[in-house]
Amino acid sequence: MTDTILEVDGLSVDIATPRGTLHAVRDISFSVRRGETLCLVGESGCGKSMTSLAIMDLLPKAAKRNARRLAFAGQDLSKASKRQINALRGNRMAMIFQEPMTALNPAYTIGNQLIEAYRQHKNASEAEARERAIFLLSKVGIASAAERLGQYPHQLSGGLRQRVMIAMALMCGPELLIADEPTTALDVTIQAQILRLLADLQRELGIAMLLITHDLGIVARIADRVAVMYAGQIVEEGPTASLFQSPKHPYTQGLIDCIPVPGRTVPGGRLGVIPGVVPSLVGDIRGCSFRDRCSRTQPICSQAPPVYETPDGQRWRCILEDAA
Ligand SMILES: Nc1ncnc2c1ncn2[C@@H]1O[C@H](COP(=O)(O)OP(=O)(O)OP(=O)(O)O)[C@@H](O)[C@H]1O
Ligand SMILES: [Mg+2]
Repeated sequence: MTDTILEVDGLSVDIATPRGTLHAVRDISFSVRRGETLCLVGESGCGKSMTSLAIMDLLPKAAKRNARRLAFAGQDLSKASKRQINALRGNRMAMIFQEPMTALNPAYTIGNQLIEAYRQHKNASEAEARERAIFLLSKVGIASAAERLGQYPHQLSGGLRQRVMIAMALMCGPELLIADEPTTALDVTIQAQILRLLADLQRELGIAMLLITHDLGIVARIADRVAVMYAGQIVEEGPTASLFQSPKHPYTQGLIDCIPVPGRTVPGGRLGVIPGVVPSLVGDIRGCSFRDRCSRTQPICSQAPPVYETPDGQRWRCILEDAA
């Protein structure tokens, strides 16, 4: 059995817009190993959500996915049928969204929603499914779990709804969990609790996790590896400690700002603010996409940047071979 649960090679997402084709994700490649947490970070609009939706085959209609290879547990998703995808999604790979109400149906009780998906995927009895739902609701910190089963989503607070969604994602025992900014709709103290809960569950259950978050403190604490996206590309990727201690790409350096040390960055710490704006994603971007905002731009940056790699797997796309 392979050690890699998710393999993304040459993934692109193109969106048809009235202004032309918007290249939201531009030929990105990365992988997630079993049991590890990969954090995907980057400014708003750089293609993080499109990346996760492309993997789950949940892109909006206007968006088109292309990949040399997109494999889950060795199975190529780009060649899989709708039926095969449906059998995987919500079962062996699950997603947690930013806004729980996009995943929870207001018309059904929490219990119904937790139990139905499990019964469908696992061919389990109602009693078994109910027992698992109660077990997982308690596991995500919901008191009187059995009573909660009869409640509707609107009867719960935002924090509780997010916990229910985590329980729902875990129902079928997924091998991969994709969480796209799972806490930004919540207030700051609850955000930290939920992210800590996710990290604990991930470790305890040995699930691989692709986590999209703006919280660098959380990234420093829970990520095994980090991938940094800019304008639809991954501009740097590497083991968390290396990336925080010696970010190579000027964009990563800008995000990390004061270069926090894992474990010392405060929870809720935000990405650094870099002056300037992300270039338009409509049409091609020639040369380095960050060069208009970079303090170290040189004439050569108008050419496609090379990719450098250290022996421990830190990789970046920049003409600068050495960090500042
Ligand atoms: N339905 C759509 N139609 C047209 N363009 C879209 C659509 N959805 C997203 N985009 C564009 O695709 C690009 C990538 O969007 P995406 O949602 O992946 O960004 P993101 O990194 O998740 O940002 P955020 O941090 O704000 O969630 C953006 O330029 C966005 O404007
Ligand atoms: Mg997003």
